[in-house]
Amino acid sequence: MTLATRTALASRDDYSQAVALIRSASAAYHDSGESPLDDATYDLLRQDVAAYEAAHPEHVSADSPSGKVAEGALEPGAVAHTVPMGSLNNVTAPGELASWHAKLNTALFGGLTVENKLDGVALAARYVDGRLVELLLRGNGRHGDDVSHAMGTITGLPEQLAQPYTFEARGEVVFTYEQYEQANAIRAQHGAKPFSSPRAAAAGTLRATNRPYRLEMTFFAYHAVALPLGTGMPLPPVATQAQLMEQVACAGVQTTAATPHGLRVVSTVEQAQQLVEKTSAERAGLPFGIDGVVIKANSLIQQAAVGSDARAPLWAVAYKLAPAERITTLEDVKWSIGKTGVLAPRAVLAPVELGGTTVTSATLHNVADMQRLGLRLGDAVTVIQAQDVIPRVLAPVVHLRTEVTRPIEIPSVCPECGGTLDRREKRWRCAATAAGTAACGLPSALHYAGHRDQLDIDGLGPSVIAGLIDGGHVSDVGDLFALSPAQLRKATGDSVVVADKLAAQIEAAKSRPLHRVLAALAVAGTGRELSERLAAHFGSMEAFLAADAVALMAVDGIGVKKARQILSQFPRLAPIVAKLAAAGVNLTGPCRQENGDTTTPGPLSGMSVVVTGTMSGTLARLDRLGMRQLIKAAGGSPSESISKKTSLLVVGQRAGSKVAKAEKLGVTVIAEDDFAEQVAAFLDIAAGAVAADRH
Ligand code: IVH
Repeated sequence: MTLATRTALASRDDYSQAVALIRSASAAYHDSGESPLDDATYDLLRQDVAAYEAAHPEHVSADSPSGKVAEGALEPGAVAHTVPMGSLNNVTAPGELASWHAKLNTALFGGLTVENKLDGVALAARYVDGRLVELLLRGNGRHGDDVSHAMGTITGLPEQLAQPYTFEARGEVVFTYEQYEQANAIRAQHGAKPFSSPRAAAAGTLRATNRPYRLEMTFFAYHAVALPLGTGMPLPPVATQAQLMEQVACAGVQTTAATPHGLRVVSTVEQAQQLVEKTSAERAGLPFGIDGVVIKANSLIQQAAVGSDARAPLWAVAYKLAPAERITTLEDVKWSIGKTGVLAPRAVLAPVELGGTTVTSATLHNVADMQRLGLRLGDAVTVIQAQDVIPRVLAPVVHLRTEVTRPIEIPSVCPECGGTLDRREKRWRCAATAAGTAACGLPSALHYAGHRDQLDIDGLGPSVIAGLIDGGHVSDVGDLFALSPAQLRKATGDSVVVADKLAAQIEAAKSRPLHRVLAALAVAGTGRELSERLAAHFGSMEAFLAADAVALMAVDGIGVKKARQILSQFPRLAPIVAKLAAAGVNLTGPCRQENGDTTTPGPLSGMSVVVTGTMSGTLARLDRLGMRQLIKAAGGSPSESISKKTSLLVVGQRAGSKVAKAEKLGVTVIAEDDFAEQVAAFLDIAAGAVAADRH
């Protein structure tokens, strides 16, 4: 495949061909979203064209993509934008950011805003007198297509606001990774091809009109402009970009402030640079794709003073991050049993640069998902660096499929022990592991437990693990702490030195913090981050193992399904934890109940809110977790118990003793219907957040 190879342009013919390729790729990117080039390849080609044009100004063609919105590849849409929808100028290095900033203005008075650059499709959402009336694509920047048919399918864009505001929210429509997986599953049910990437899904879905199914998307506003329509009640006047976005959020439209890194205001360009680096480091954990960080002058007066050029505002800049998504070829699939006993396919890929390293291997979906996606060997596939540190194959790029693809052979027996596979669930397991006996997943489980991020046992490599298992000395992580010097020596190839070192490492591992011990247990459905929250919430392994579903659901990110999944593993965990306790492994940690530090401004700002009883009416669709999300979305902090600090008790059907307690303490009590009215604008956000949390 030539997709990743780069050639500088040697002749005018090469240049014309490159211009044509850019235009067609750009048109596909902005139209169906299914471009034949990944962003990295595309960017290199753009650089080649720019370099050729600089060297041969007399050859620059009228078709040149340089300096045009959407590279000039788009037909104008049907509806005029009130204010042009610009693009952004890019920087890729600290020095470039600094010189953008230096040109801005020497006296920067409101500071800079820093936020995620979401990798989706730009959308303008027009609200007239509080009602969502029109959705427009960016088009060529001056005219965009009307995609109002997508109303009602976009989380974060309510159809009715609590106040009769008239304004246009501008932002990005994305598929979260969870929505993307769901979308491909729904498409498979309808015999439609999978989307090659979340961005392609957003572009295709916004334009689609006659689909027999509905796909949920998410909107985050990054800007707002006034609209000369309706009775014209504008958003309250403000002085800064951050305040403007706060007004948009208060009106009920989701903004980039609601993304994991939020919208931050800093006073120096160095601080902005630091946030770029922080975002880059944490990018892989985001629930959706980003392709950079956007930095804006915060003062609206300054924005107006600085203005825009033909293509983009000069008061904002995109700090592009290295592409975290590439297209490459799926060459082979290898099978093993993972740490929780699940059959795990691994993709062998044609080498491709991703996230600063050359990637040749990636995790794949489970068998059911692979079949659903119709993956074949030889397929061009989209690979991303997201969610986990290990790259992941998202989907085949079906429009690039050639004749030479071959089916993937699915194993009929366990690749480790040759025994039967348990195929009753979506994830297949070695039947021996499923029965809780000989664990084919044991090598992976021990390897994972000893990894630097968990117990950090240096020297617990594959051959030592194999030696320990073959010797019959370990059947779970707990046994690692009861190994005799002789057993260790045998497993390390009879080396006293190596065995002593390993023994010292195991001894040191006994005092790792609780969250790392918890993560080492590889509780299916939890990862490192959730282990941290669990440890902080419960404070001890004992309290964690004593939790019921309701107690688990008090932890951010745990819904009914995940609570059940975690609970079902307690019987397996109990004997392992008993071994850890007997060996003196640390099983406690500082307990930190969640506080409201992640709240956004809204009607419940600064309020601690408790809910009691079952919700009916408009709130009936929200369960306990949903109500927590609703409170947070409206700016409050949810809490489980009544105290003097409680600001508000929301009372549903069949409420218990909390009402009397609240009244005794003088806490304001509100009926669920009245509460629902106060926070109506945040219902959609809460429902979306619940869906995202249930990942
Ligand atoms: S600001 C006048 N902020 O990136 C405001 N754009 O490459 C100009 N984008 O067309 C845009 N996240 O569709 C802005 N936080 C963010 C963004 C963002 C994604 C998109 C937007 C823009 C494109 C330019």
